[in-house]
Amino acid sequence: MNPYVPGAGLRPAALVGRDPVIGDLRTIIDRTTIGLMDRSMILKGLRGVGKTVLLNEMWRIAREDGWITARVEGAASAEDRLVLDQVRAELIANLPETKSKGPLQKMRKLMTSIESVSLSVSPSHTLSAGMSFSQTGDEPKGPIDPAEFMGIALSVARAVKDDSSTTAHGVMLFIDEMQLLAKQELSAITYACHKAGQDEIPFYVIGAGLPDLPTRLAEARSYAERLFTYRDIDRLDDAEARDALIIPAYKQAVTWSEGALALVVNEARGYPYFLQQYGKEAWAVASSAKRVNVISEADAKDGITRGRAELEAGFYASRWHRATAAERKYMAAMALAGSEFSTTDAVASALKRTAQSLGPTRAKLIERGFIYSSYRGQIAFTVPGMGGFIMQTPEADDLKREISGDAVARQIPDEEGVATVDEHMYYTT
Ligand SMILES: Nc1ncnc2c1ncn2[C@@H]1O[C@H](COP(=O)(O)OP(=O)(O)OP(=O)(O)O)[C@@H](O)[C@H]1O
Ligand SMILES: [Mg+2]
Repeated sequence: MNPYVPGAGLRPAALVGRDPVIGDLRTIIDRTTIGLMDRSMILKGLRGVGKTVLLNEMWRIAREDGWITARVEGAASAEDRLVLDQVRAELIANLPETKSKGPLQKMRKLMTSIESVSLSVSPSHTLSAGMSFSQTGDEPKGPIDPAEFMGIALSVARAVKDDSSTTAHGVMLFIDEMQLLAKQELSAITYACHKAGQDEIPFYVIGAGLPDLPTRLAEARSYAERLFTYRDIDRLDDAEARDALIIPAYKQAVTWSEGALALVVNEARGYPYFLQQYGKEAWAVASSAKRVNVISEADAKDGITRGRAELEAGFYASRWHRATAAERKYMAAMALAGSEFSTTDAVASALKRTAQSLGPTRAKLIERGFIYSSYRGQIAFTVPGMGGFIMQTPEADDLKREISGDAVARQIPDEEGVATVDEHMYYTT
């Protein structure tokens, strides 16, 4: 059975190279048990590096350890459905049934009386942990805003701590694609983490998102920078990449030849998604040739060819074709620049536009998660290798022609001296 699983959020047969981050979560858990506080955590990285599977693993660990959890995901149309409203529903479902009329029971009542968490209610401007203890939840609360909701979520965590009839340790929220949350949600979440630390409430947020998530958080609350532990979820090193290939096969008594391993590790450049894709194809080639117990160098070569085609059709083309013509042109200009980061000014000048007039296109590309911006005026692709893929598209060819034609045109003097220009240049460039 092919053990490799290229895909979004699909748990790999061997989750390698992430022990330090998992260790950070265990530290939070251990510290809480002895009454110490820690910071909430943010996992950031490019598409396909394994943020979602890591977040899911951490969620599993927290649940097993007896935390009350909610696991939710931001969506591009965040305004339609607030993530905090999903958190509300999940917390209600996961709150333990306590018999006593203790604090947790009260909080459960209050929680269930909330109709929804929405941006359309006028802001309460209040968030204070514990404020809701005075309320009983007997009255329906109707819709509330993100700040008020986070106040109540904190109160739930405090109730968990104070209620002797529960063995739960606290509340932990797991939020994927967190860069997509509304600013008000990010602001409320950040403030809640701040408050939890100050008031020693066992409440943590583990968020995952694109590399500009820290910037989004800092825009929402300036002190966010000091509030979270930020972890880069990055490429795997060679030894880890080899493990990602070897271990799943080993479980089925299949081995990789040294040459095959070297080829795939080199091709995948440490990106987990690519390792799964090439691993899967190499395995498929070997098993279709009925060489079931060893993956040879030849299998790996064929697997890489097939894997590249799969990546182009899936990982890259699916995104490229979802973009509008204007968005593609913008990304083609980025790709043509050839470096990992481009500036919005350079893109604008390649497209003969102003950076300002391209603002809406850039904003849309960011919202759709194709590109990100960690610093003002700087942009990059969220998908590893996207620039290389785009360079092979007709849009990039067109733009190349436009730009090189333009470069030649610039050499033509405006007035006299036209005769000195070599016309041939038009055709050779
Ligand atoms: N540590 C790992 N070891 C081996 N394979 C992994 C690891 N992490 C992730 N993968 C594999 O990589 C692929 C991408 O994982 P995942 O969906 O978690 O990435 P992501 O960072 O959430 O991507 P996106 O930003 O697109 O949501 C999956 O096929 C998964 O099985
Ligand atoms: Mg993901």
